[in-house]
Order: sequence, then structure tokens, then C-alpha cells
Amino acid sequence: MKRVSSHVSMASEAEINLDLSRLLIDKPRLTLERKRSFDEQSWSELSHRQNDGFDSIMHSPAFPSGFDSPFSMGTHFGDPHPLVNEAWEALRKSVVYFRGQPVGTIAAIDHASEEVLNYDQVFVRDFVPSALAFLMNNETDIVKNFLLKTLHLQSSEKRVDRFKLGAGAMPASFKVDRNQNRNTETLVADFGESAIGRVAPVDSGFWWIILLRAYTKYTGDTSLAESPDCQKCMRLILNLCLSEGFDTFPTLLCTDGCSMIDRRMGIYGYPIEIQALFYMALRCALQMLKPDGEGKDFIEKIGQRLHALTYHMRNYFWLDFPHLNNIYRYKTEEYSHTAVNKFNVIPDSIPDWVFDFMPCRGGYFLGNVSPAMMDFRWFALGNCIAIISSLATPEQSVAIMDLIEERWEELVGEMPLKICYPAIENHEWRIITGCDPKNTRWSYHNGGSWPVLLWLLTAACIKTGRPQMAKRAIELAESRLLKDGWPEYYDGKLGRFIGKQARKFQTWSIAGYLVARMMLEDPSTLMMISMEEDRPVKPAMRRSASWNA
Ligand code: GLC
Repeated sequence: MKRVSSHVSMASEAEINLDLSRLLIDKPRLTLERKRSFDEQSWSELSHRQNDGFDSIMHSPAFPSGFDSPFSMGTHFGDPHPLVNEAWEALRKSVVYFRGQPVGTIAAIDHASEEVLNYDQVFVRDFVPSALAFLMNNETDIVKNFLLKTLHLQSSEKRVDRFKLGAGAMPASFKVDRNQNRNTETLVADFGESAIGRVAPVDSGFWWIILLRAYTKYTGDTSLAESPDCQKCMRLILNLCLSEGFDTFPTLLCTDGCSMIDRRMGIYGYPIEIQALFYMALRCALQMLKPDGEGKDFIEKIGQRLHALTYHMRNYFWLDFPHLNNIYRYKTEEYSHTAVNKFNVIPDSIPDWVFDFMPCRGGYFLGNVSPAMMDFRWFALGNCIAIISSLATPEQSVAIMDLIEERWEELVGEMPLKICYPAIENHEWRIITGCDPKNTRWSYHNGGSWPVLLWLLTAACIKTGRPQMAKRAIELAESRLLKDGWPEYYDGKLGRFIGKQARKFQTWSIAGYLVARMMLEDPSTLMMISMEEDRPVKPAMRRSASWNA
């Protein structure tokens, strides 16, 4: 297999990250001058801010193509787009209050929809773009309240029938239960015990940690992350993923439906959607855990895991043209340490579509890699998070963006962004989804287009120096989102149709748009969600005695 540069030194990160104040080397966001358009701020100005998540990528010589790209010229945003006010109004309507305090946003307020299901709840993953929008607007209380309320919910009793879930599990969603007679309010969480399919959300805990870092980085308030409750919450979440078992891989073994794609879609095993979030959460936790008592053990374990995970992902999940050609020519049934085809992937299992889809320029992280199984599907969230978190090397980040450019019609089409590509159809759909009537081809999780993914695409574009690409995607969304009533997803190969069973006024479609817009207008906001490439510490250069000779 092709080796992509994978030298990382996690020990170095562990060494420098023990102090939470490192998160804040950059000035707290609230004091930074804002609202300057992207044009007014030069790239060099942005990239010279220390520790803001830009410097490693923007000035890396490995990133030349970001600037040559037809999508990479400066943006020309003037007055706020009329949609922005509409979006804020809709977002505010979705705020959920508990005992008078804002604690989150409801998933959707679609009055026209007959079945509410659990769309009247606050979903942890759905709240992330809302939280980022509120933070950027200096409304930080709702984010803090959300973090604290979900933290307390972590200690609730979690049971599926007679089976008790791990203490670290975080809820998929929660709602406010109002008892009119007694005039009381209580929060009721769902950890998967009521969810369709009874799957626990592996992504919730990771998003919680990522959001805690974003809050800390943006507000400059380290007291929340440093509090014993938050430290414990992080340790409990991490305990679920760092405990020893029968694993031979550093990736995290998952069941189907445990992430944003919360129904059977053939993504059990080691889905990229979870591995990228896992990596990012580990790096965020490393910055926030205190090196005292129990924290110290976790810091050590995280360092080791990150070291192995980075190597594994960058080598075995990476696919580009030369690598695809290597797999195509693989020998099988190899035994021992000298094996090239380590996971015994049978070349005949490579689906036909990949040969057409793979451009000469570009690459991506595979959907899944496990023994004799490679899921060649492209997944949006995993690949964008890989860029944002620097799981991808600078070269890989460029390649992921190149691929999106090359395959714009397939992945973006008329509505950003496909959740995965391609859709599974016919016999494969029957076997893999179990005949799921919602996940039919090019619909919902099966190749549907989700406006919420716009913020992740925008963040990845900014980080790789391609704001024009983000601008183009945002304009596509702007031409339809309000008119169509902020749908949850779109259907069809090009994303032209409002999704078959899509909710309207889906909150994360609204918040995702706002975050994308605000990030493009003030790219320095990216720092709250982006992580720098973890570079090995270079030994100090000393002049040799012969220097002056
Ligand atoms: C759907 C989505 C899931 C989301 C939920 C609430 O179940 O698949 O990702 O969290 O709706 O919007």
C-alpha cells in the first residue's frame, strides 16, 4: 500500500498541550475585531495569528494548489444577504428553554408534518451548528447551558431492556418534560433506548468534547472546561473508547446507525464518519484535560492512540488514483508481516463506479476498512472533519478538495452537499439497508443532499485556501433554502428535489447556512473548530564548532 507521509509526534502534542491556557494563546474571540469582510483581511494577516488553526495549512508549501484553483480567489461579500436575517429569525424560534434558560435548539419545527417522531427534541449533533452560530454572535450562554445540561444527563440511568449502557454514553437527544399540574420541568434524555433501531450515538460524546473546546477557544472562559464536572465527563466519554479489548486496529469498532446516518446503511465496522470525529475529539480532549490524578493516565493513553490512529487512517483509509491502481493489482491470501495486501482485499470487490469516479487529481478517505472489506463510498462529514482536524496531511487535504472540485456535479450538483456518494440501489439496497423505504437511492442518507453539511464544506474550503469554492456552494444553497422552507435534505442525483420525507424548518439546515456565511465573512472564526497539523518538534538548531571556520 502506498504510504503517505505519516510522521507525527503525539508525544510532542502531549507535552505542549497539558496547559489549558494554550487554547487561548490567541486572544479570546470576544475581544477580536470582527465583521471585516474576507477581502479586507489578507491571507497573511490571518495566517500570522498564532495558534488559530490557519498557520500550518495556509503557509505550508504543500498547499500550492489551493491558490491556483479556480475556486480560490478572494470573496466579494458586501452587505449581509437578506437570507441571513430570515435565518436568524428561524433559528431563534427553535430555541428550547428549561426553567427559563435557553438550553438548546429543537431539531425541526415543521408544523405541516404529520409525524413529529423525535424531531421535537434537542439533538446533540444537531445543536453543534446552532452553537457555533450563537458563539459567533456572542450569545454564549445557550452553549454553556447546553454543555452543562447534557453533562448532567450523562449520569442518568441508561438501559435497553435489561442491559445497562456504559457510564460515558452521551444522549442522542433530550426534551423538556413539562408537568402542568405540578408546574415542574424535567429533562428527559434518549441514549438510544427509544431511538429507531436502538442504537447509541457514538458521535454525541465526540461532538460534546469538540463543542467544549470551541466554547473555550471562542469565549476565553477556561473555567468551564477546567471544572471537575467537565473533566469527569470527558474522562467517562474517553473511557468508552480507550479501554482495551480484542482490537487489532486503533480505529473504533461501531454498529450501523451510530452517527448522523442513524439508520442501517452498511456503515458498521470502522466508518470514516466516526473515525474522523474520534480523532478530532481525542485531540480536543488532549488540549483540555488536566494532567493531574486520573487525567494524566488519559493524556498518556490518548497520545498513544492518536499516534496509532493517525498512522492507520493516513495509510489504510487513503485512496487516490495510484493507490486504487495498487489495490486493483493486489495479490491475495498473503500471510505474515511481509504482506502488502494486509487486509486481504479481493480486487474483484472494487465496485465499477470507483474507476470512473476517481480523478487523476484528488483523493479521499474511504468509507470503511476492515478485513477483506473496503467501503469505497465517499462520505462528506468524515472527509471534511479529516481536513478540519488535520487528520488528513496537508497533501491529503488538498487532494480531498481537488476531488470535490473535479466531481462537483456529483457531490454538490444543485444543492450542497451529498451525505455520501454514490447511492446504493436495487439488490444491494435490499441487502444493505434491509429495504429501508426512507433510504431509497439518492434520498435521505442514501446519497441525499444535506444543507447542514455546507458549514463543514465551508470550513474545509477556508482551511485549504479555497473561499471561492465555498462561496459558490453557499450561493447555490441561498438560491433555494428559504424558498423551499429550509428542508432537512434534498433528493436526486443532482439534489434538485426537496427530500421525499424531509422536514421543513430543519434547524441544522438553518444554522449550517448561518455558520457557513459567517465563517466566509470572517475566516478567523474557523479557529474555534479547526486544529493545526501536529508537527514534530524540531530539535533546536545549533551551529557546529566548524561554522565560522
Ligand atoms: C435524522 C438524522 C439525524 C438527525 C436527526 C434529527 O434522524 O439522520 O442525523 O440528528 O434526524 O435531525
